[in-house]
Amino acid sequence: MDYRFASRFDGITGSAIRAIFSLLADPKIISFAGGNPSPATFPKEDLAKMAEKLISEQGDSVLQYGGTIGRASALNTVKELLAKEGYDAKDGELITLTGSSQGIEMMTKVFINPGDTVLVEAPTFLGALQTFNTYQANLVEVEMDEQGILPDALEKALAETNAKFLYTIPTFQNPTGRTLPLERRKQVYELCKKYNCIVLEDDPYMALRYEGEAVPGIKSFDPENEVVVKLLSFSKTISPGLRMGAAYANPAIIHKFNLAKQGIDVHTPNLTQDLVAEYIGAGLYEERIGKNCDLYRDKCALMFEEAQKHFPEGTKLVRPEGGMFIWAELPEEYNCTELFKTAVEAGVAYVPGTHFYAHGGHHNTLRLNFTMVSEEKIREGMARLGKVFTNAK
Ligand SMILES: Cc1ncc(COP(=O)(O)O)c(C=O)c1O
Repeated sequence: MDYRFASRFDGITGSAIRAIFSLLADPKIISFAGGNPSPATFPKEDLAKMAEKLISEQGDSVLQYGGTIGRASALNTVKELLAKEGYDAKDGELITLTGSSQGIEMMTKVFINPGDTVLVEAPTFLGALQTFNTYQANLVEVEMDEQGILPDALEKALAETNAKFLYTIPTFQNPTGRTLPLERRKQVYELCKKYNCIVLEDDPYMALRYEGEAVPGIKSFDPENEVVVKLLSFSKTISPGLRMGAAYANPAIIHKFNLAKQGIDVHTPNLTQDLVAEYIGAGLYEERIGKNCDLYRDKCALMFEEAQKHFPEGTKLVRPEGGMFIWAELPEEYNCTELFKTAVEAGVAYVPGTHFYAHGGHHNTLRLNFTMVSEEKIREGMARLGKVFTNAK
């Protein structure tokens, strides 16, 4: 057969990243390439008991079709979590999602015609880039510094492009671990409002804070609920396999999301929604997040120290206060994309930073993940990586 695929998939292969992940099953390789939470954080026993109870006691409803907007249990839970952050989300302003990825997909489906501009951080989450590309968006990168998006660069991009939305990960960003300070969050909000550009605020790492003070979301500057679409995810705090997230936005946008979701998956699975609601309702969420942070805090600090110790002089590192990643910018002469093969031969893997840029380049950058590896492996893997770079000189 001659498969006549839609042109929206032209040039989208996912092959570079697939090739990286296929290597990771090899136990000889210490992989810092993943982006998964540690299975040690999954609340298996609690969820098993709750699932058993939900199906045996509420099976008629849990196993039946549900409404596209979401279960009352989950919507109320999300409302309560948002209230703790100072948000007053009302009916019609929320929808549950099959992970926050679905929010990225729906936002794009609802707003982007081929050629429309989306502003993205440089670098940004690879999955979002792939989604924007499949909808044939025109991707315009906004420059960042160690604290995140640069307001001047954002204003220039807004003035030049008539962008429909800005996609931003303001806290412990994937891939850089950077956190946008409060003042800049306000500027991002004000600039986007001035230029009629929506802010898609994707904040799945926010709860994984190991030190420092929490910073209110960009959404906190949007009491009229018109400029910012806020995505929530339980993937990094409870379980990514449950596929549970939510969006908080203006009712006009939620209405369109509702229409889009009907055709995508009808609704987020009822069991998943009820499990998250039960788990949080039982008062277990904060303790869980605390335990996750305890597990990751030392690994994060250790990986950062080891990077300082082993990486070439002139490497720029930002110590994240939370999240799952350490980002390194090596001196220009190092090509981390080419050195990836040598690193794997030396028994260590990372993700070359180029994959996180909408238009590639930046071959002197790389992303390291610390949540899936033991401290012993962090020491060993970082030493191996250091040798790869030293020998490359
Ligand atoms: C910035 C960002 N957004 C969204 C996601 C996907 O999250 P979910 O599992 O909620 O779809 C990820 C996962 O890696 C991410 O890093």
